Amino acid sequence: MESADNLQQLRALLEWQIELGATDAIGDVPVDRFAMVAPDEQTSAKPASAANGTVVPSPAVAGGSTPDPIEEAEAAAGAVKTLEELQSALADYPHCELRLGARNLVFADGNPGAKVMIIGEAPGRDEDVQGRPFVGRAGQLLDKMLAAIGLSRQSFEPDTSVYITNVLPWRPPQNRDPTLEEIGMMLPFMRRHVALADPDLVVLMGNISCQAALGRRGITRLRGTWTQAYGKPALPMFHPAYLLRNPAAKREAWADLLEIRTYGGQQ
Ligand code: URA
Repeated sequence: MESADNLQQLRALLEWQIELGATDAIGDVPVDRFAMVAPDEQTSAKPASAANGTVVPSPAVAGGSTPDPIEEAEAAAGAVKTLEELQSALADYPHCELRLGARNLVFADGNPGAKVMIIGEAPGRDEDVQGRPFVGRAGQLLDKMLAAIGLSRQSFEPDTSVYITNVLPWRPPQNRDPTLEEIGMMLPFMRRHVALADPDLVVLMGNISCQAALGRRGITRLRGTWTQAYGKPALPMFHPAYLLRNPAAKREAWADLLEIRTYGGQQ
């Protein structure tokens, strides 16, 4: 059994590591998770990115010799009829390597019948642990922002609830930005997600969400102007994580929330 002194030392060491920015416990020996995947699950062909930011299949893929991850995503997403089936199709999709490092698939939260659908970027550490989107600090701010216009993910009424998801259902390592290839693979699932939930409007939270839906970034210029995405009226907005770092931008975020309230018909 550890002595009290020892435990105190271990605790101090752990707190010191957290202070330095460590967010995950890892082993002493590196684990090659790619080697742990069955060969037929490994992605042999990766799509390349065109200069304009769209994702194109590689020549080998275009020639039909190896599976095209995007075509497979389109087929899998096109075959599902319900949100539950969509979640299963994502869980079965083998080509996005982010799944190998994630604890949980983070699918969605809130009321799928809501008029407002919020599309974030990707799960962070808290979301990865809990398996629900927007539950960390940014998520808590998002809940407060939504409450300010009478919306809540706990409500069951279409007018007062929200449905929340992310472009990426798996946490990228160290919370890095997802690549264009990863976004491209998830896009067919995202389109199907919006079609099945069928909201009145979508909110594109942050640059990654705009990249996926509109093919471009630049949230400072995009925010606050209505556009179309996934066949729905769409409003790009500052991501709550950005607002935590830049509190002065809350003024613009408030203007965007009022837009959502007016468009969504809330009081
Ligand atoms: N940021 C996002 O974009 N989504 C989450 O779920 C959490 C943080």
